[in-house]
Amino acid sequence: MSAAVAPRVVLVGPMGAGKTTVATLLGDAWGVPVRDTDADIVETSGREIADIFVESGEEHFRDLEAAAVVAALAEHDGVLALGGGAVLRPETCDLLADQTVVFLRVGLSDAVRRVGLGVGRPLLLGNVRARIKTLLDERTPIYESVADHVVETDGRTPEEVAAEVRELL
Ligand code: S3P
Repeated sequence: MSAAVAPRVVLVGPMGAGKTTVATLLGDAWGVPVRDTDADIVETSGREIADIFVESGEEHFRDLEAAAVVAALAEHDGVLALGGGAVLRPETCDLLADQTVVFLRVGLSDAVRRVGLGVGRPLLLGNVRARIKTLLDERTPIYESVADHVVETDGRTPEEVAAEVRELL
């Protein structure tokens, strides 16, 4: 039996941390493919993420997301960016224990500035700042628990963040 192909790095962190952008920069720098569980879910389900939340509910989205992580970890050798809530599933955190995980940390102000009005992000409906604060408070301990490295993104460009990730690995 051949060993599973492990991604070189898995990026976790909240909305507005810049996971997708940094993943693309890392993939370009390393010459490896990039995968993003949000994009995988849209492709396999044929639906936009906001529509999945509205039509089928968050728990169904989390089921699809957990399956997308399992598939990506099994198939993908490169950079993998996870949706901000992927770590809410304990089974996903268990799988991450065997991976090299980088938590892209972002504080409230920068996260709010980066997500703007939160268009296409169903969990930010209503007061974007208050919603992000709640998500950061709830999830930061989980991101920290699964991470091998924490990289600060506040006040930094995606290029600077990607450069630090490359130095770490
Ligand atoms: C979510 C983050 C989003 C997307 C969905 C839910 C979350 O991904 O998966 O809207 O629960 O934080 P990004 O973190 O890539 O924006």
